Amino acid sequence: MFFCICTQEIRKAGESEIKVSTKSSTVDLVTKTDERVEKIIINSLKQEFGDNTYSFIGEESVANGKPCILTDKPTWIIDPVDGTTNFVHGFPFVAVSIAFAVKKQLEFGVVYSCLEDKMYKARRGKGAFCNDELIQVSDVKDIHKSIIISEHGTDRNPEKVTKIFSTMQKILRIPVHGLRGSGTAATNMCLVACGAVEAFFEIGIHCWDIAAGAVIVTEAGGILLDVDGGPFDLMSRRMVSANNNVIAERIIREIEIFPVERDDTN
Ligand code: IPD
Repeated sequence: MFFCICTQEIRKAGESEIKVSTKSSTVDLVTKTDERVEKIIINSLKQEFGDNTYSFIGEESVANGKPCILTDKPTWIIDPVDGTTNFVHGFPFVAVSIAFAVKKQLEFGVVYSCLEDKMYKARRGKGAFCNDELIQVSDVKDIHKSIIISEHGTDRNPEKVTKIFSTMQKILRIPVHGLRGSGTAATNMCLVACGAVEAFFEIGIHCWDIAAGAVIVTEAGGILLDVDGGPFDLMSRRMVSANNNVIAERIIREIEIFPVERDDTN
């Protein structure tokens, strides 16, 4: 039900002038809508399930100084507006992303791509769905027949930007059919899950951008890895999500890794 309220907030705000502030850099944007939608979600969950049972990791709460530590306690991981830059510019991909973890294991995830009206959801062991239809990753193994998504995030450090675009050039020259980016990590992961693209990778994303998508991709038959080929770590801010190992490992050979601070260092 709160997805309707969140969507109303996002659509209503999009119709008038949006007041924009910045966070970690001049291109890391936040609006009153991000904050309002996060409050609506957290208050609704508290009202429904009580105040003390759960922990919350929400993008805007963390930006306002709340800790970002994933403990064994049942935890909601929330991105109220994934694709804030899209939202500010009217670029039509904006998602609400909510995941639930118990003992650090992701149990379910919901990504609502508000403007497309697509509800992606998955529960561990129960498959992944888009608007109630079962979804599956693509079966392409030949990298030359793939579309790959990557994003450049909000860090404009020149060395990092060089590495990001050098990686993209190398992947494009493999060659692949195409490179894409929707501007929302959560939606990108759903595009992997429903087989529209073969992989999405990024260094610099946060746990709230990808937690729900992580369940959706794996339940759709896909895989998650670290950008160095090691195991996926939700708090590391590095991720490759792909339809299979062959595609993931081929991309990983081209990724130029740069350091990022983990989410759980505060
Ligand atoms: C951003 C989006 C974007 C990704 C950035 C994220 P936000 O999330 O998911 O696609 O490239 O790294 O920070 O800030 O719009 O919630």
